[in-house]
Amino acid sequence: MSNVVLVTGGAGYIGSHTVYALLDRGDRVVVLDNLSTGVKAQVGKDAIFVQGDVADAGLVKKIVAEHGVDAVIHFAGSIVVPESVRDPLAYYDNNVVKTRSLMQAVVEAGVKQFIFSSTATVYASDAPQPLAEAAAKSPISPYARSKLMAEWMLEDAGHAYGLRHMVLRYFNVAGADPKGRTGQSSPNATHLIKRAAMVALGRLPQLDIFGTDYPTPDGTGVRDYIHVTDLAAAHLLALDALRGGAASVTYNCGYGRGMSVREVVRGVEKVTGKPLPVRISDRRAGDPPTLISDPSRIKAALGWKPAHDGIEEIIASAIAWEQRFNR
Ligand code: UFG
Repeated sequence: MSNVVLVTGGAGYIGSHTVYALLDRGDRVVVLDNLSTGVKAQVGKDAIFVQGDVADAGLVKKIVAEHGVDAVIHFAGSIVVPESVRDPLAYYDNNVVKTRSLMQAVVEAGVKQFIFSSTATVYASDAPQPLAEAAAKSPISPYARSKLMAEWMLEDAGHAYGLRHMVLRYFNVAGADPKGRTGQSSPNATHLIKRAAMVALGRLPQLDIFGTDYPTPDGTGVRDYIHVTDLAAAHLLALDALRGGAASVTYNCGYGRGMSVREVVRGVEKVTGKPLPVRISDRRAGDPPTLISDPSRIKAALGWKPAHDGIEEIIASAIAWEQRFNR
């Protein structure tokens, strides 16, 4: 049996890191990406690249048959929360309707293994922290709802068609490939560490701190920042487990450690040796005070071990990529 993985969204931020991780260990990879936000130059050269849409069932079936695909890692999707509030139907189309189409095509083509990118924002904001996988769900944005809908489709497809799957719920993904081959490239990214890196390089005048009156130790928002390289490694473990016959399951991907905005700012200052200009701003609508994972399930079941969890390493890699990417 051939072992070829189809990676949708493999030209995107997390997808491109996972493609490098797969190629680095010698796996065979086909990338399907419509390049709506992805960057082709960030796809590892040893992957087969197909430009196209995940909802193109004919194309998906052709790829599966031609290359002997046995597993799919589905990253492709829209990820900007405020954009999803402005244009929810576009998000339901891209993240739900197209995912449904992809799932049907791969099931019909005989693929039995599927890994799906989900998000910590499916959890209820009042669920106890750290969040275990069984914590109450109450997604509030169309983005988060679209991800939970896709999780449900996958669960049903697992029962009905034997599509064994792993759902990975990402916490706050940050940083870039330590070898500098890829990183976060979207110009309008709103993520804290990406923006802080831009400020550190003088590309933005200052970093806004959105809210200092949260019920957190220093009043600023607390998140569980995970290095994208550790997240890519989690996908490889999930893939190996599925190929080894593991049953369908959902895993949180985070370190189980909360860091405040101010702690991140201090981390940036340590990395650069310079003060980071900040401006205290109002809370950003929809931001929960705290999001921290309980990653014990993935650690116990897959033996996942963070290898890049120092906040300064995460920040330094983000700054290095920012410097390389936007010269
Ligand atoms: N923040 C600032 N200033 C900024 C940007 C962010 O103070 O310029 C603060 C936010 O208020 C929050 C924290 O930094 O407290 C993290 O914010 P991010 O925008 O980096 O990340 P979010 O937690 O809002 O959301 C991210 C992704 C979502 C994803 C979610 C959970 O943007 O797509 O993580 O997975 F759903």
